[in-house]
Amino acid sequence: MAGDQIGTLWGVSAGPGDPELLTVKALRLLQESPVVAFPAGRQGQLGVAQAIIQPWLPANQVQLPLDFPFVQDPAVLEAAWVQAATQVWHYLQRGQDVVFATEGDASFYSTFTYLAQTLQRDHAEALVQTVPGVCSPLAAAAQLGEPLTILQQRLVVLPALYAIADLEAAIDQADVVVLMKVASVYADVWQILQRRNLLAQSRVIVRATQPDEQIYRDLSELSQLDLPYFSLLMIECGSSSATTRATHRPDLRLG
Ligand SMILES: C[S@@+](CC[C@H](N)C(=O)[O-])C[C@H]1O[C@@H](n2cnc3c(N)ncnc32)[C@H](O)[C@@H]1O
Repeated sequence: MAGDQIGTLWGVSAGPGDPELLTVKALRLLQESPVVAFPAGRQGQLGVAQAIIQPWLPANQVQLPLDFPFVQDPAVLEAAWVQAATQVWHYLQRGQDVVFATEGDASFYSTFTYLAQTLQRDHAEALVQTVPGVCSPLAAAAQLGEPLTILQQRLVVLPALYAIADLEAAIDQADVVVLMKVASVYADVWQILQRRNLLAQSRVIVRATQPDEQIYRDLSELSQLDLPYFSLLMIECGSSSATTRATHRPDLRLG
């Protein structure tokens, strides 16, 4: 869209890695939009979302890498969000849509949220829409060949481990726990799982659906794992049986 109107910022979910896990809507928007934005890669590498969408992008499209530093400092982050929102607004105010592609789902612990909130705070007239997609726990379950949850099971997703007590409480309350950003806390988590006798029912999935995906199904012998950032842990901690949950794994089918 172009003209007198303000363009729309679309938060488009790029999915967990396999470029075929984009939705049809995401694909259409990515191919129609004059401007496609994504988190900039580091050290000369493509960003993760950028690599996912690359096969689908037409020539002659403006590509806008936005810098989101990998730091905790609120002031540095705020400055980066303002800078990114300003870059996006440059196109929106000229009536051009901007499609921002983000890894996984755009509403699930996503950079897109900060970009959209900053844009709308600084430019109240800005229009924002979100296109949902496949988030990493769903992709991980699919790659494991297991349901994420069944029947009455309670699912808890922890965005990261800020305190050991958080994981202990989640294990007590849920049947299935997904721990995001497990890489930096894996050794501590392993100790808890060992104490709770849950190592055999825990799985780590690295870069689910990406070409270099790795799966660790039983962590009993894996007290030390050097995991990359795109890793998550799934713990089956309820009383439901593994065989019930595993019915669609061909190697474990019942009967
Ligand atoms: C900032 S969150 C982004 C989540 C993403 N928006 C989603 O929908 O899954 C980053 C964390 O998500 C998890 N993650 C994202 N993609 C993954 C993948 N393909 N395989 C395994 N874990 C993934 C990892 O735990 C990683 O540390």
